[in-house]
Amino acid sequence: MGLVLVTGGAGFIGSAVVRALRARGDAVRVFDALRTGGERAHLAGLELELVVGDIRDEGAVCAAMDGVDACLHLAAESHVSRSLGDPRGFIGVNVDGTAAVLAAARRVGLPRLLHMSTDEVFGAAPPGVAFGVGDRHRPGNPYAASKAAAEALIWAWRHSFDLPVAMVRTTNNYGPRQHAEKAIPCWVRMAVEQGVVVIHGDGSPTRDWLAVEDCAAGLLAALDHFEPGAVDHLAGRDPRSNRAVAEAVAALCGGAPVRCGPARPGQDAAYALDDRASRARLGWAPCTNFAEGLAATVVWHAARCARR
Ligand SMILES: NC(=O)c1ccc[n+]([C@@H]2O[C@H](COP(=O)([O-])OP(=O)(O)OC[C@H]3O[C@@H](n4cnc5c(N)ncnc54)[C@H](O)[C@@H]3O)[C@@H](O)[C@H]2O)c1
Repeated sequence: MGLVLVTGGAGFIGSAVVRALRARGDAVRVFDALRTGGERAHLAGLELELVVGDIRDEGAVCAAMDGVDACLHLAAESHVSRSLGDPRGFIGVNVDGTAAVLAAARRVGLPRLLHMSTDEVFGAAPPGVAFGVGDRHRPGNPYAASKAAAEALIWAWRHSFDLPVAMVRTTNNYGPRQHAEKAIPCWVRMAVEQGVVVIHGDGSPTRDWLAVEDCAAGLLAALDHFEPGAVDHLAGRDPRSNRAVAEAVAALCGGAPVRCGPARPGQDAAYALDDRASRARLGWAPCTNFAEGLAATVVWHAARCARR
């Protein structure tokens, strides 16, 4: 592949992508502001170049794109709960930042830009519905709205400037190196440190879970099968209620009780992506068993709690 630039490469999914790229011998440059979710430690032991910078700085992104064959754009503010308290901060990074990445890609003549988006742009999936790649956006929280707006910019640059850009949307990832405030790490910490897991509301919302290593493999497949204008979905096809996942986490942590707390505003009942066409196009399917993947994830996050 040559040299791959990964924005947000020090984050949860980005560091899994970087690991997968390095494992197959690709040269990697990470561009990351080391904000929420991003840590140098996530890249420990990996041979790569780390550029610390902000995606809103078009000149810095241009410089980071020098000599690059492809860019995976993952950098974002990604925590829904934080977006409720700082919607405009999220719009600044996720929308203006994506505009700067697009402008830089155009300026340097980047050969391939693969943008990372989310199932949340569609809003709540009615029972039995999994959204297709062209379905209408109905984002239900400021994070989701900022990602939907970023998608609009992607297609505007593709249409107006013929930019070689494609996009992947995925469902909820789980695994090591996720920020401590996200759901599963947070439930592990509560179980380990407080002996009780408190969930938002009754825990009935369902999420479709995908191991981060499987997501990384899907992103590499999308890069290898890059087609300008392509949109791919990566799904776990493994929907579970938040309560069921919290109970599984609590059981793995020694059987802490699970209690209901206040509901979180802006929470959608379910997210779901139809990924049948992408699995066929990319020759990709997740291979991690949820029970095993969750057990390994809980061990990793419990060890991080012990280190703090
Ligand atoms: N985690 C999921 O389940 C999930 C699901 C679907 C889509 N996504 C998308 O995948 C991408 C990565 O998500 P994640 O879960 O790894 O998030 P994360 O918060 O762990 O990582 C985001 C990374 O972006 C960096 N970053 C933030 N603002 C920046 C800025 N202004 N300039 C440069 N870098 C900046 C952070 O430092 C961090 O390393 C995001 O685009 C997110 O919207 C995530």
